[in-house]
Amino acid sequence: MYSDKVIDHFQNPRNVGEIENPSGVGTVGNPKCGDIMRMYISVDKKTNVITDCKFKTFGCAAAVATSSMATELVKGRTLDEAKKITNKAVMEALDGLPPIKIHCSLLAEQAIQAAIQDYLAKNGE
Ligand code: FES
Repeated sequence: MYSDKVIDHFQNPRNVGEIENPSGVGTVGNPKCGDIMRMYISVDKKTNVITDCKFKTFGCAAAVATSSMATELVKGRTLDEAKKITNKAVMEALDGLPPIKIHCSLLAEQAIQAAIQDYLAKNGE
């Protein structure tokens, strides 16, 4: 049902935790299942590069795996590049998700966007 990459990122999630004094934080939830994802980013103000990204997810295996992969995709990207990361890109990086779990990947996309928006709002943009 799940790809090897999904199972790997679920069992060994990358970048779990929180960042002290983050540049931005995004918290999103799925009202249908009640799962919650919080994403923290550190941004280098000079270059607009996301230098660190961590997450905490209270959710299903797909939610944890997509959070983990999303943090990997976001790190080292500029804000503009990270804004373009979609749930489809996260799923592709995980070699796909079962159709009934696709909605779980939306949380990862929304959490990235929410963290970026939080950073931009805090910096007057
Ligand atoms: Fe809720 Fe997967 S079932 S995010």
